[in-house]
Amino acid sequence: MPHRFDATRCGDLSLSNHIVMAPLTRNRTSAGLVPNALMAQYHQQRAGAGLIISEATQVSAEGQGYLDTPGTYNAEQVTGWRRVADTVQAAGGQIVAQLWHAGRISHVSLQPGGQPTVSPTARRAIGKTFTTDGFVDVSTPHALCLDELPRIVADYRHAASLRRAGRFRRRRGAFGQRLPARTVPARQHQRRQRRVRRLHRPPRPSAAGGGAGGE
Ligand SMILES: Cc1cc2nc3c(=O)[nH]c(=O)nc-3n(C[C@H](O)[C@H](O)[C@H](O)COP(=O)(O)O)c2cc1C
Repeated sequence: MPHRFDATRCGDLSLSNHIVMAPLTRNRTSAGLVPNALMAQYHQQRAGAGLIISEATQVSAEGQGYLDTPGTYNAEQVTGWRRVADTVQAAGGQIVAQLWHAGRISHVSLQPGGQPTVSPTARRAIGKTFTTDGFVDVSTPHALCLDELPRIVADYRHAASLRRAGRFRRRRGAFGQRLPARTVPARQHQRRQRRVRRLHRPPRPSAAGGGAGGE
């Protein structure tokens, strides 16, 4: 019977033990939403876990939902994350990134130019978020149209490619954490999901070969 301190595998990662640290948003970035030395220290102190899932990191300015959460959409932020990853790896740990778009769990004061937050529906979520004015009700979102979705998919893709440069080995997605399933009527959500899948289905590999490249 394996023990929690025994080495194990998770996909193609070799972990020194079975302990995985859950992502924990800490709202500790420096100006520009750049991961800093305090964040590196926080993660380094937990490097004894077999795997750390980083705190959620927004894939775009629009994806920010809370004050001072780290971004992954420009070079400065990725340099900050690289410091975090290097510190964890130097301490013998492993870290993967949790990419995030907070959707409607956000407030206009956190959005670029005070623009509306976005969501699958134009209904405000019941909940609060943390801003420079403390905890406030989240804002009423703009309902995304289908032709706006490729932009968000592209933001995830861009962030994922930057993360590879930032020495993170894998990432895991989050959109407002459990936002869609929790807050959108199931039938409506599923209808949208089917349409989104159709829109973004990768081309079938040709008979001549060339499998689909995963990210
Ligand atoms: C302060 C705090 C920050 C959190 N930040 C994140 C986050 O960034 N991403 C995420 O997916 N979950 C986040 N969570 C959820 C936790 O990762 C975890 O899933 C939750 O605390 C439930 O854990 P449990 O099932 O062991 O009780 C956060 C929870 C807390 C309390």
